[in-house]
Parts: sequence; C-alpha cells; structure tokens
Amino acid sequence: MKRRTFLKCLGTSAAAATAAGVVFPTAVGAQSKSDIGACRSIKVTVLSETSWFNNDVFKKDITDGGGASTNQYTVPWNRENSGGYSALIEVEALDGSRRKFLMDTGWNNDWMDYVFQRHGIDKMLASGEIDTLLLSHWHLDHYWGIESTLKHNPKIKIIAPNTHYPEDLQLLKGAEFKVAGAKNTVPHQGELLLVDDKTIHAVVPGLAIKQFDVPILLRVRGENVIYANIQGKGIVTITGCCHPGLLTLYNFAKRNIVGGDQTYGCYGGLHLSLFENWDPKFDDIIKGAQSFKPEKMGCNHCTGWAWAEKAAQSGLPIVKGTDTYKSYPKISSVARGSNVFLTNGDTVIF
Ligand SMILES: [Fe+2]
Ligand SMILES: [Fe+2]
Repeated sequence: MKRRTFLKCLGTSAAAATAAGVVFPTAVGAQSKSDIGACRSIKVTVLSETSWFNNDVFKKDITDGGGASTNQYTVPWNRENSGGYSALIEVEALDGSRRKFLMDTGWNNDWMDYVFQRHGIDKMLASGEIDTLLLSHWHLDHYWGIESTLKHNPKIKIIAPNTHYPEDLQLLKGAEFKVAGAKNTVPHQGELLLVDDKTIHAVVPGLAIKQFDVPILLRVRGENVIYANIQGKGIVTITGCCHPGLLTLYNFAKRNIVGGDQTYGCYGGLHLSLFENWDPKFDDIIKGAQSFKPEKMGCNHCTGWAWAEKAAQSGLPIVKGTDTYKSYPKISSVARGSNVFLTNGDTVIF
C-alpha cells in the first residue's frame, strides 16, 4: 500500500464519527440531557503512553502486514517496538473519598509488567484498591497487555465496548496468537460489562462512559470515552485514542450531558498528527477546540507532537509534561524538548 493511501485510510476512520441513535435511560429536564453527577477532582497518572517506540517500524509493520484495514491479529508485529497505553485514574468524590481505576492495559506484557511495578499498580490490583479496568477500545496497544493486569487479579471487573471481535474474547479467556505475538495465559474470571452506543453508562458520580461506534483502523470498531464532570469546572473527556474525534466528543457533551456546555478539558490520545504528518484539517480542529474554550488539555499518544506544538502556539491550554519519561528504559523516537505531551510518569489534575 502506498503511503498516501495508507494515511488517507487513517483519516477516514477519524472523520467517520457520528453519535446517531443515542437513547438515555436517565434523561432529565426539558432537553432530555443525561445527569452524570459530579466529582470534586480527577487525577490522571500517565503510566505509559508510548504504544510503540518507533513510528517508521510501526508503519512498516502495518504496510507489510496488509494495510490499515487488516485484522490486527494477523500482522507479524515487531515485538521490540511494542510498549503500551495505560493510565491510572483517581476520582475524588464530593465527600472527599477516592476511587482508583485502571484505564487500558497496554500491549507488550514485559513493558506493562515494568510499568505496573514502577507505579505500584501490581499491588493496587492484587489488593483490590483497583477493582475495575476501563478498556477504551480493543486496539492492540490498549488491550493486548491484558495478562499484566489479570496476573494480579483475574477477577477484576472489566468495562469495555460491546464492539469486540471473536479474537478479542478468545484472548480474554486465555489464548495465543503466534503470528501477531499476542498472548494471555490468565483467563479472565470476573464480570465483563459491555457498553453499547445507546446509553451513557454511569461508573461513579461524576464519571460516565459513552461508547461511540465508529470504524477504526486495523479492523477495530467502537471506542468507550470517559466523561467526567468536575464540580464548578465543567466536562473533561478522557480517551485512549479519541478515534471519534475531539470535537464530536465535546459536541456530544454539549447536547446530551447536563452541564456539558461548559468544557473544562481533555486527557489522552487525540488521534491527530499520529505519524507527525500535517493535514490542513488539523488547523480547523485547533480552531474548533478553541471555540469550546477548554482550560486544560493533556495530550499524548496518537495526538502527535506536531499537533500539540501547534495547538500550544495557537493559544490552546496544552498542559506541559516533564522529563520523567527519560528515566523509563525506552523512549519514543518522536519525543521533543517542547514537552507538549504529558508523557510517561507525568500527572495531571482536573
Ligand atoms: Fe492507541
Ligand atoms: Fe486506537
């Protein structure tokens, strides 16, 4: 596949976002908006946002493996290049009590074992301090490191999009996909709660999940987006890759969530200049984001450093990261001195 066709394919997935047919079980008020409650604050710790370390190697794997629409379980991925995406989300309730959630579980089990040990996630899983995994979507870099989570608690509750393929559930039950290098030896024994795209799923007051059923590259469908409502501040979106598109998410909140017209910010991958390429539409997304007047934007992963730098230059409130990532054993080849990414080991509080 030619590079141009490949990049066009990625663009299609980002642009195909809709939120049609949404029904709310907890509709309130004249506008039938959903009330997700409120929390006092949310702290996000970036456990790992480096899903792979070298863009060129990752792109070559996809191209050689059959292109952007290929089933991710059939691609012979370069194992040395795989890392993973995962974050710790701490929700402070209005009464001051706190709940911890694991968001995503990375890709390479060895990398994730290191990351979880470094941040004490292994102990939090084993003790039950973290009892729920919020899986954003079934992409390899967010899901295939599942053994690293299950080995500490096979009974953990998992909340995931209902748009899985058979291989996804096989891996969860314990399976190996030799060509792709995906393996899980610890069958999941806990509750698997699959979220459809018709409802907003409440997790705790001030934190809810909405699934957007969009087509995504590598034969994946649907992404669960976390919406947080921070009292007195507004709505924060927390995403793995943000495949539906940031403006779609902010617009959805505005139309469908009580208090959703007040945007406070975002955390996570935004799926923009993924391979540090530039597309004129990225300028429009900067303008679109400005119209929502966010106060805090924590970006990383598939956002692309190029987009985050331009967004910061354009006045968007991009939260700067630190150099903590340099103390991890592997570093992304595209990390830059501008620190416009919240990267490995960084935290942000909303
Ligand atoms: Fe990703
Ligand atoms: Fe993704």
